Amino acid sequence: MIKAETNKTKNPDEDLPFIADILQCPFCLARIQIQEQTVRCVHCNKTYPIYQGVPFFARTGSADSWGQTREQLTSEPYQQNYQEVQDARDYNLKYQKYLLKRLSTKREYQLLNQLLSRQEHCATMLDLPCGGGRLSQQLAPFTDLLIEADIAVGQILFGKANSHVPTRRIWMTASAFHIPFQNSSIDAIVCIRLCHHLPAPAERERLLCELLRVARKFVIMSFFDYYSFKNTLRRMSSCLRYKKPKNTMTIRQVAEIARKNGGELVACPSLAIIGSGHRYALIEKK
Ligand SMILES: C[S@@+](CC[C@H](N)C(=O)[O-])C[C@H]1O[C@@H](n2cnc3c(N)ncnc32)[C@H](O)[C@@H]1O
Ligand SMILES: [Zn+2]
Repeated sequence: MIKAETNKTKNPDEDLPFIADILQCPFCLARIQIQEQTVRCVHCNKTYPIYQGVPFFARTGSADSWGQTREQLTSEPYQQNYQEVQDARDYNLKYQKYLLKRLSTKREYQLLNQLLSRQEHCATMLDLPCGGGRLSQQLAPFTDLLIEADIAVGQILFGKANSHVPTRRIWMTASAFHIPFQNSSIDAIVCIRLCHHLPAPAERERLLCELLRVARKFVIMSFFDYYSFKNTLRRMSSCLRYKKPKNTMTIRQVAEIARKNGGELVACPSLAIIGSGHRYALIEKK
């Protein structure tokens, strides 16, 4: 059950019309029409409910939902993790409570600042998945409109009630595998800490393809580097005792998927050389 922190019901007319022309149905890809309390696809007639001003566009599922063969391990269980506000709260409070997580957020702010400062100011930016808005303060100054989306309604309601920035924002649920926006319709997309939760290689590739489909100018996506010091140690130690392999990508794979989808990998700094295997890929659209 959804337990929101605020009961304020907002009329969708206030914000959604700003993006009405660029929305698309995550099922059939047709245009979406905004009505009083719902949003409806003009083609397949599917309706998307709106709760507390938040439209629910999330289409869950793995590779079979985009016409590929389903792999044995998928991210579907993970998609359910933060549907409750309480679980979302626990996740977000961990990042405030523990020193290592606070330090990691500080470093992530630095990386985002470094990468975003190289780009022109955006009219629109999509933070997907936004979680509870952990990175919003760093993203907000670089855009006129920040669209906050996550597959989990708990994260969205927690973020909407607890994260505050001066920039105009729109919140929604959405899957990064079926982004409810038309091709090249959003200036920039930032996708942090999702890729390494995707156990199926087809999911990791789909994620980057979808981000590049929707972005007009650039994408920033974090991934866990196969050749990072941390993963190399893990691979070596897993020879001695079995350890589940991490969901990694190589820089070369990221660059190749980018190239095939009209992008160019222009920077790929790591979060920390030793302590973390994460990298932030900055991909510019050509
Ligand atoms: C580790 S959190 C990161 C959130 C945020 N980017 C941050 O750095 O704090 C990963 C988020 O991905 C969301 N998620 C999982 N699968 C998703 C999908 N297919 N599409 C969009 N969000 C997804 C989860 O609900 C969760 O909030
Ligand atoms: Zn449709």
